[in-house]
Amino acid sequence: MTASISDNLLHWYDSHARALPWRNPPGAAVPDDPDWPYRVWLSEVMLQQTTVAAVKPYFEKFTKLWPSVCDLARASESEIMAAWAGLGYYSRARNLVKCAAAVATRGGFPETEAELRALPGLGAYTAAAIAAIAFGKRAVVVDANVERVAARLFAIAEPLPAARKAIRARADEITPTRRAGDFAQAMMDLGSQICTSKAPRCLLCPLAPQCAGRLTGEPERLPVKPTKKPKPERRGTAFWIERGAGRAREVWLVTRPGTGMLGGMRALPDDGWSARADGSGAAALAGKTEELGAVRHTFTHAHLTLRVCRMVSSSAPPGEGDWWPAEKLDEAGLPTLFAKAARLALAAG
Ligand code: ADE
Repeated sequence: MTASISDNLLHWYDSHARALPWRNPPGAAVPDDPDWPYRVWLSEVMLQQTTVAAVKPYFEKFTKLWPSVCDLARASESEIMAAWAGLGYYSRARNLVKCAAAVATRGGFPETEAELRALPGLGAYTAAAIAAIAFGKRAVVVDANVERVAARLFAIAEPLPAARKAIRARADEITPTRRAGDFAQAMMDLGSQICTSKAPRCLLCPLAPQCAGRLTGEPERLPVKPTKKPKPERRGTAFWIERGAGRAREVWLVTRPGTGMLGGMRALPDDGWSARADGSGAAALAGKTEELGAVRHTFTHAHLTLRVCRMVSSSAPPGEGDWWPAEKLDEAGLPTLFAKAARLALAAG
């Protein structure tokens, strides 16, 4: 039964695998290319918490700018952070820099799950995914898609997160020794294309005859999610400080401290909303400001309303920063929140 699950799934994958820029065709041997593990690692880090569609252009950009892990290790942190801007979860980019340095120093990626796990920023999921996909090792790869497929296939009704133990044990049972990388990616493709959260397309599923979740009549109820706490509302103020006009118009940009929210990213100066637990918004900059409006942004843990205030100032504000040409703001590598705020300011004239 478990052998036939992996056989059926791999057979389906042979004709239905998504062609993705970081992927090997189904059934092909692991490429004999020193940059192959780098591409797998980079894609897996980018794909954590982010969709395939959002990742594709970033993966193309990174591999063009830095074709090997040694190229990435030689790049400056600020260049990498700017290239990552817009992809979100910026601690991943900070860890990327550290991991590239560690891998370049040791002369390449290690092949075992345990050694991969010891690299900066690599959790259990990423280590297993790289071991399986980059090196063809048998590893149990469980992401949210795999979790959903396994919970349905075996009708695991226990709520998450407690169900993770049973889900992992079941995923382990069905993971084959051969083609472990294809199997992991087949589970992901099945989860994203067929065994979708809301309306699973069971009629097209290669595992339908073996699926206990389907027999319940309501596979979409699995896995049982924990009740979500509502996200807190936070407020803050960002400052658009400008000088000059027309093509000479410039805006003051800062680099956020290395740790904490949006750490290491270029940004508009603000009132310190991210460091304050209460999220109240006292203005930190003295001077005459004009309120331009507000932008909304949702983070993992909170919703934010960020007021945008404009100031005209010919002298640089206190602290470190740079005057940046307003015309070239799209090259500044602003994370989405501040790109939204900048768009609002530019639209205001
Ligand atoms: N999500 C995470 N890793 C993936 C992969 N290798 N292919 C498709 N989706 C993924």
